Amino acid sequence: MRILGIETSCDETGVCIIETKETENGVVLTVLGNQLYSQIKLHEQYGGVFPMMAKREHAKNLVPLLEKCLDEALLLKSKDDFHLIINEEEENKKIKEILAREGELFNDLIKLLEKIERPDIDAIAVTNGPGLEPALWVGVVFAKALNIAWGIPMIPTNHMEGHIVVSSLDKIESKDKPQFLIRETKYPALALLISGGHTQLVLIKENLKYEIIGNTCDDAVGEAFDKVARMLGLPYPGGKIISDLAEKERIEFPNKKTSYPLPRPMIHSKDLNFSFSGLKTAVLYTLKKINNVTDQIKQEVALEFESAVLDVLTSKVSQAVEEYNPQTLIIGGGVSANPKIRAELTKVCEKYGLEFLVPEVTASTDNALMIAVAGYMNIAAGKQDTTDFKANGNLSL
Ligand code: KG4
Ligand code: ZN
Repeated sequence: MRILGIETSCDETGVCIIETKETENGVVLTVLGNQLYSQIKLHEQYGGVFPMMAKREHAKNLVPLLEKCLDEALLLKSKDDFHLIINEEEENKKIKEILAREGELFNDLIKLLEKIERPDIDAIAVTNGPGLEPALWVGVVFAKALNIAWGIPMIPTNHMEGHIVVSSLDKIESKDKPQFLIRETKYPALALLISGGHTQLVLIKENLKYEIIGNTCDDAVGEAFDKVARMLGLPYPGGKIISDLAEKERIEFPNKKTSYPLPRPMIHSKDLNFSFSGLKTAVLYTLKKINNVTDQIKQEVALEFESAVLDVLTSKVSQAVEEYNPQTLIIGGGVSANPKIRAELTKVCEKYGLEFLVPEVTASTDNALMIAVAGYMNIAAGKQDTTDFKANGNLSL
């Protein structure tokens, strides 16, 4: 089965084509094409993502990325000039209606549709939430336009589910395109989702059935990383930069007791919820008391901040493991790229004898591979395709 994944929920425009094959060892997934355009440079100057600007950029990039992705997947076939499509005019009218607010995207898409054949793809998986609604919207209408043009069925896909399921890809040796074996998850599983917009603990009792058992009361972890980075005068998004600084401090000054202690919010609360806004404010007050925030101080604060986040995350995960007794721990979302978080949660898994499913670092942050994988999993589980769905910024698991 071939699936086209489309992701536009935030500031990454992603288009990916996967192929799945059942083998005696399980389902083998080949990434035929994977294109990602990051808008980070554009948003960096404003210190955060502007939804309308993100939407405009997605609209500009979707068609070129699709064309590149089809080409990479060897599915780009030029149309034979004599090949007449009877319904084309009618189709173009419908596509125009769908893309009524997206003149440029419409023009780009029609130009592409005029020159290429319908690719041999079985389904389109598109993120319909959660995320920035204008950004999601453009991906959804793009998928709907392709559905009209090519008659390929659509599966609306939850972005957070994408962050979960991409962790079940086990890389295998391959000569050409990247290949993975889809690992059978042992249930119940516990997922820790840590991204720019979410901090959630999710209980998965069976395949694709989710129950949110912990949530943030205010900021998401990634948001806190980004805001603290900003306070330290570091560029957006700050998660990776903070984690690099923290690592440098750990190497240069092992065993040093911090001069800038920060709180571990809600670490002793009986529930599984989180709060990171107070931690962020504590960093602000700490910095205000310092006359000259040198690079050395930045490094020390970065380490203490990361340690505070780590303590809270590992403590809540341990608490959830004791309460729900899962067989598997899954992590997902941009912050799960953090090496220290991976290392500490590996220890938690060893302690409790859990299988640990971790996405490849490049698949931790937003991408369309995870959306294609989620689409595949849903189809394999019998979910029906539909054209009746909307972008929903607050979509829940
Ligand atoms: O999942 P993602 O790409 O987008 C959302 O769906 O939000 O997550 C982006 C977040 C950003 O806040 C970024 O700073 C954070 O992931 N991030 C990290 C690291 N790499 C990315 N945070 C901590 N350590 C990292 N290495
Ligand atoms: Zn994400």
